[in-house]
Amino acid sequence: MNLTKQEQKMLDGELGEAVQQSMEILVALGKIYSAEKMIPITSAQIAGVSYKTIGNAGLEYLQEMVKKGAKVKIPSFLNPAGMDVEQWKELHIPENFAKKQIKVLEAYSAMGIRNTCTCTPYLVGVVPKKGEHIAWSESSAVAYANSVLGARTNREGGPSALAAAICGVTPKYGFHLDKNRVSDFVVEVKCDLHSESDYGAMGYYVGEIVKNKNPAFIGIEKSNVNSDKLKALGAAMAASGSVGLFFVKGVTPEFNVSEKHEKIVFTEKELRHAKEKMATTNEQPQLITIGCPHASIDEIQKVADIIQMKQIHKLKCQLWICTARDTKKKAEKLGLAKIIEAAGGKLVADTCMVVCPLEQMGFTITACNSGKAAKYLPSLCKQKTVFGDLEEIIH
Ligand code: F3S
Repeated sequence: MNLTKQEQKMLDGELGEAVQQSMEILVALGKIYSAEKMIPITSAQIAGVSYKTIGNAGLEYLQEMVKKGAKVKIPSFLNPAGMDVEQWKELHIPENFAKKQIKVLEAYSAMGIRNTCTCTPYLVGVVPKKGEHIAWSESSAVAYANSVLGARTNREGGPSALAAAICGVTPKYGFHLDKNRVSDFVVEVKCDLHSESDYGAMGYYVGEIVKNKNPAFIGIEKSNVNSDKLKALGAAMAASGSVGLFFVKGVTPEFNVSEKHEKIVFTEKELRHAKEKMATTNEQPQLITIGCPHASIDEIQKVADIIQMKQIHKLKCQLWICTARDTKKKAEKLGLAKIIEAAGGKLVADTCMVVCPLEQMGFTITACNSGKAAKYLPSLCKQKTVFGDLEEIIH
């Protein structure tokens, strides 16, 4: 790789061991993917935050980096942790887990990374512009940043995003290059999609088929889609496949389809099929979870509206709306939290249904309206899953 003088200094260890180790990771990646050089990035979003997913080995790695003097060079943000840092006791998170989780967060803070703990940084002020190079690692945020915002990021792993944050650069390959921002798989949508869960179901179905290709959707009316639906679509495709970039004709800032492409049609039949596959049970859930990816203020408003419309005084089971802490504060200011809490629901910040230790907390049946959550709740949290629209699952 052609490194600048400064990058070479980093690699040679002139700027300390943590920088050297990070540059080694980036150079190794660059070589694997034949990158010619590094490019500066404007932000990093770092996954590998929940103690449930990184365990002791991950915690020790982070503490080691702190000891070596690691500090980030650019604005850097964290993915969800394994618990709400303010109400973990109230939510019955096991104490041993909480203690370890706090240590993980302390290590990231010591490196200068902001404890935003959200998979939707773009909903709380971190909005890269079209063409901006970034290094994000949460798969749903990668899909959103590339596709909806037109920014440029690969699907980073936690360690490579951290390395990029420490060095301020990332190897220029993959989605950073124009030639890879092209679709060779068209999805023609021939049915009406109403809710976020419809988009999540379509994403679940399409992701399984396209795997890591870049799907391009045609047939979706601009007036029918919004950022919540696009975030649901991208998250589901990133989970059931490993989609990092998609296009929607007339909606996303880019729409490039190669002449030679495969094509599938998505109809009412495929929608039904996907929903049936995602719902592994129709039993009464013990927990309803909303907010995968983290709920926007509009989604929280919808939940509050449903509670009022259905005149629910006491929900039949627990309800968590997982969201970013800043969005939660907004919901409190607007009086939405009060409506939801009066019915027994909770706004849960910093974490989500998948990365918190649900299975250790006694839950076995969980409802969701998210394609991504439906993909992971059975495998990562040992849950039977009820899947449906907000109106269907909130009662
Ligand atoms: Fe976010 Fe957790 Fe879903 S990290 S995308 S809410 S699985």
